[in-house]
Amino acid sequence: MERIVSGKIGKEELELDITLRPKTLDEFVGQNRLKEKLKVYVEAAKRRGEALDHCLFYGPPGLGKTTLAHIIARELNVNIRTISGPSLEKIGDLAAILTNLETGDVFFIDEIHRLKKNIEEALYLPLEDFRMDIVIGQGPSAKTMRLTLHPFTLIGATTKAGSISSPLRERFGIVERIDYYPEEEIFLILKRSARILSIKIHDDACMEIAKRSRGTPRIANRILKRIRDWAEVKGKGEIDMDAAINGLRMLDIDEEGLDEMDRRILLTIIKDFNGGPVGIEAISANIGEDIDTLSDIYEPYLLQKGFLVRTQRGRIATDKAYKHLGIKKYEDELF
Ligand SMILES: Nc1ncnc2c1ncn2[C@@H]1O[C@H](COP(=O)(O)OP(=O)(O)OP(=O)(O)O)[C@@H](O)[C@H]1O
Ligand SMILES: [Mg+2]
Repeated sequence: MERIVSGKIGKEELELDITLRPKTLDEFVGQNRLKEKLKVYVEAAKRRGEALDHCLFYGPPGLGKTTLAHIIARELNVNIRTISGPSLEKIGDLAAILTNLETGDVFFIDEIHRLKKNIEEALYLPLEDFRMDIVIGQGPSAKTMRLTLHPFTLIGATTKAGSISSPLRERFGIVERIDYYPEEEIFLILKRSARILSIKIHDDACMEIAKRSRGTPRIANRILKRIRDWAEVKGKGEIDMDAAINGLRMLDIDEEGLDEMDRRILLTIIKDFNGGPVGIEAISANIGEDIDTLSDIYEPYLLQKGFLVRTQRGRIATDKAYKHLGIKKYEDELF
């Protein structure tokens, strides 16, 4: 079954992402401090007629990193060339992309933490000086060729800021964390999406969905679509409170926005490991979900909501987790 919280995006959803993607900074809901800063940086670069400084956006999936990269290119009136980190295999491919960029263009690298080491290193000089040295041939007859590039802006996006090497990180003039959205902003995003998709939604229903969307626009949009299905098949065609509640139940999303996997993670820590501390490897082995998915997709929200804490010795389920799952703490130790 399709998972609401999953980080993977299928083809249908990519289309949804693109349909609902805000096109300008003004359309981009929330993250106001970040937006104000970006407006200034973009305006300043435009006035000076220079390329914008390289930008690194990091934060959990689905919060708008890709969207922002596209918006920035649009606000700068330049082209954007998009690539995913691991797909860039050869230095020659990198050189081909870089030499094709026009002055001020945006080069967007998604999942930049997964760039191959040699590619990453080959990027240092272009980022700094807009030139690139490539070695042609091998052995004694090898020659170095210097390419002069047009000034460009690299925008990198990552869910794992910690995995970016410091030489790469230091080459970004603008480094911004994108955080989970407060419920009121998710509410506005849902309203906007409903309008675009011609879905009728009541304010109270919209707020209920907002509360359970993990502060994540992509998840809010996914839930909206699924609940529309419920409303059309079993409800009154529009999303009222009844549709919202029943739809959320159908999706197995509880009052805190946790889904079945979140609850399984907490239950495993509590039941199998006595509440922790336990390493992520052990949790992963018990649940059968890979470590990256656990640490990039599930854990950040559980940490932020205070269901988990991370210590040097591992993850610990908090009192809030016990309470939420209706489990009494230390009950096993009574015997
Ligand atoms: N601030 C926002 N206002 C309105 N919609 C938003 C906002 N941020 C994100 N979205 C919506 O959420 C969807 C996901 O955003 P986006 O693809 O930019 O996330 P991402 O951070 O790049 O995720 P990933 O890490 O998985 O690549 C977009 O299609 C867009 O519709
Ligand atoms: Mg993205």
